[in-house]
Amino acid sequence: MKKTPIDIQNSNEPIVCLTAYTSPMASAADAHCDLLLVGDSVAMVLYGDSTTQNADMEMMVRHGKAVVRASKRAVIIVDMPFGSYETSKEQALTNAQRIMSETGCDGVKLEGGEVLADTIAHLTAHDIPVMAHVGLLPQSVASADGFRVQGKELEAAKQIMDDAKAVEQAGAFCVVVEAVPEPLAAAITGAINIPTIGIGASAACDGQILVTEDMLGFGTRTPLKFVKQYMNAHEGMDDAIEAYSKDVKNRAFPATSHTYCNDAPLPEELELYKASCKASSRLRG
Ligand code: KIV
Repeated sequence: MKKTPIDIQNSNEPIVCLTAYTSPMASAADAHCDLLLVGDSVAMVLYGDSTTQNADMEMMVRHGKAVVRASKRAVIIVDMPFGSYETSKEQALTNAQRIMSETGCDGVKLEGGEVLADTIAHLTAHDIPVMAHVGLLPQSVASADGFRVQGKELEAAKQIMDDAKAVEQAGAFCVVVEAVPEPLAAAITGAINIPTIGIGASAACDGQILVTEDMLGFGTRTPLKFVKQYMNAHEGMDDAIEAYSKDVKNRAFPATSHTYCNDAPLPEELELYKASCKASSRLRG
């Protein structure tokens, strides 16, 4: 059964979330996740940018459509990219409506707490489900080096708590809490009534989210402290591509089973090739 943002808001169980940017990843994750986020991290993970600030509306809509097409069950949330919601609540509504109507997703996510409360209230008043995001805000970090734990000092911790309360008050159905120490994550989770979805924010949150490519071990970077790698996709891909390369060089690929054959008469000089061709000419193996 297709889940809704209300199901997430009312969930009594740990909420399983991952990012997805493409149809194949969405179809692999959909059955196991409550929520898939088409994160603006797509700019870094798929396009190799050093910041999420380079994601734009076109990119988010394109990847949002691909993920929605391949999902049946999970709630699909699309990130509002940098520059698409900060100018005014009217700008935010126009762009959120475009994301919702062009992708068919279930809601949007935007980064920020107290300063965005009016904008979030404006979106939710217009029936746009909003996933909020407090703590580390990647769109406010100029490069990957600036990703640091937030809320270690008392004042900063108080501000993140106030941010979480403000987005709840504004009508967000859940809130991502990124890169904060466990005691702060636990305090926020205890203080608000919408679910907290942690990334680098400990098991004290109501749910967890990771960038799927990080937990599958794509890329060669050492994983960040808060990432658990469930496989090493990079190694697997490297082995497979090396084997393919050897097969091509040794003429072991394609075999007859990968080859289209043709019973039509051939000129005499081609008969030799025809004789060696035993496989069927079906398109799929
Ligand atoms: O863009 C993203 O992937 C995110 C998650 C890290 C929460 O915002």
